[in-house]
Amino acid sequence: MKAIILSGGKGTRLRPLTYTGAKQLVPVANKPILWYGIEAIVAAGITEIGIIISPETGAEIKEKTGDGSRFGAKITYILQESPDGLAHAVKIAQPFLGDSPFLMYLGDNLIENQLSNYVEEFKNKDLDSLIFLCQVPNPTAFGVAQVDDKGRVLQLVEKPKNPPSNLALVGIYLFQPVVHHAINSIKPSPRGELEITDAIQYLINDKKAVSACQLDGWWLDTGKKDDLLEANRIILDACTDCQIFGALDDNSQAIGRVNIGKNSEIVNCTIRGPVIIGENCHLENSFIGPYSSIADGVRLVEADLEHSVVLQDAEVVGIEQRIVDSVIGQRAHLGIAPKRPKALRFMIGDDSKIDL
Ligand code: DAU
Repeated sequence: MKAIILSGGKGTRLRPLTYTGAKQLVPVANKPILWYGIEAIVAAGITEIGIIISPETGAEIKEKTGDGSRFGAKITYILQESPDGLAHAVKIAQPFLGDSPFLMYLGDNLIENQLSNYVEEFKNKDLDSLIFLCQVPNPTAFGVAQVDDKGRVLQLVEKPKNPPSNLALVGIYLFQPVVHHAINSIKPSPRGELEITDAIQYLINDKKAVSACQLDGWWLDTGKKDDLLEANRIILDACTDCQIFGALDDNSQAIGRVNIGKNSEIVNCTIRGPVIIGENCHLENSFIGPYSSIADGVRLVEADLEHSVVLQDAEVVGIEQRIVDSVIGQRAHLGIAPKRPKALRFMIGDDSKIDL
């Protein structure tokens, strides 16, 4: 069995973070979202993985993720010239997939459940496809399934205006190679993409063995800021270890589950876990509250924040108010103008959101 992870696409919903980087590399608890998917796939016993990349962000994904040896996997990168849809990505991965059954994983999805039981079910029941459903409050944002009272899938619709149910399609799918025929038979949707949802519908219409499983654990599509913060909260909640490699001075205290990376110095700060702080950070006269992830190289001086994600090499200096529910991008600087402390001075990127 092989796997493909879709890490191409445009990442428009996480702008401005994704203007300069791949959305699948945005960290959750200081680890790229994509890596959780790779680890889950390897834990299910699948080690031959193809990663679909785009021309814009592919090099960054390749450089950061490598050949797979760090995960115990063999990774092949597959370039998709333009984001022409999830089924299009499978089409271009066909030479890699050959005649193998495969797991398809959307690189911005995170799930709580282990994949191994589902892979076993797929094999044991001799299915052509196994898909996963999860109840959501906003089904119009997803592919949606209509199922009968025995749980059989009757119909799938992509981002419907009038959803037939609140059961969204999770971004994880298991397929036999028969799906390639389905993909070759469908046409692009009105939004111009070859939809995997249409390919699965084709299999259903063709009386193939398509089964759906409802996930009982959590599932997050990390496409938007609030989803990202929620993923960060859940992952930090699940981390039970407490490792302090950096240096805390006598005036600092770390309460609860706090991880601090190498060469980070903490001066006169209170850190209340769960919190993760990367390497080479400098934190001074600050309070870091629960559910915060601080990436490598971050500088926080006279800052007060909680339930927030601060990306690599960002800087927050002298902000009196508590910063909550925030995502601060790589190398961003948030500070007070020294000569006019009451004045606000901005250099705000396109699509930024600031609530004062
Ligand atoms: O997250 C679950 C949802 O994922 C499903 O409910 C939908 O049925 C499914 O279509 C998909 O919808 P999204 O709008 O969330 O897909 P998105 O465009 O965000 O792409 C998902 C991942 O696939 C993302 O990591 C980017 C990658 N991708 C996307 C496209 C369109 C590619 O690699 N190539 C592509 O052509």
